[in-house]
Amino acid sequence: MQLDDLYRRVIMDHYKNPRNRGRFEDDEAVTVDLNNPTCGDRISLQLKTKNNIVEDAKFSGEGCSISMSSASMMTEAVKGKSLEQALDLAGRFSKLMQGEEVDFDDYEDIEALSGVNKFPARIKCATLAWNALRKGIEVEH
Ligand code: FES
Ligand code: FES
Repeated sequence: MQLDDLYRRVIMDHYKNPRNRGRFEDDEAVTVDLNNPTCGDRISLQLKTKNNIVEDAKFSGEGCSISMSSASMMTEAVKGKSLEQALDLAGRFSKLMQGEEVDFDDYEDIEALSGVNKFPARIKCATLAWNALRKGIEVEH
């Protein structure tokens, strides 16, 4: 897969130094486990929300560089956001995967995944964490 060099560097940085990787020790977090059906890779996302705000997020699981870096970026981007803002981010990410130009001024690293939209199988990888986010927010509502 050919991605712009700068983009690839951002993706590999998140893959090698994932942000928010791990599990919360207490049981106050909402946990969503999702598989990517095409490869069997999985993600477990934990969200801590309070008063409609995503106070903290962590993820674990195994997957390719695209799926794991996307999870790292997503958890960084949604921390401190309201549930509505988090859903808005998820909507913008879908547009990015459809090849639209989208700004992520609040968390620019996400734009490094824009090149993925040319590879349908990779879109599933990149979207896994965001699907987990949507599911986790649905549980909260
Ligand atoms: Fe390109 Fe896996 S990152 S195929
Ligand atoms: Fe499995 Fe990307 S190849 S999530």
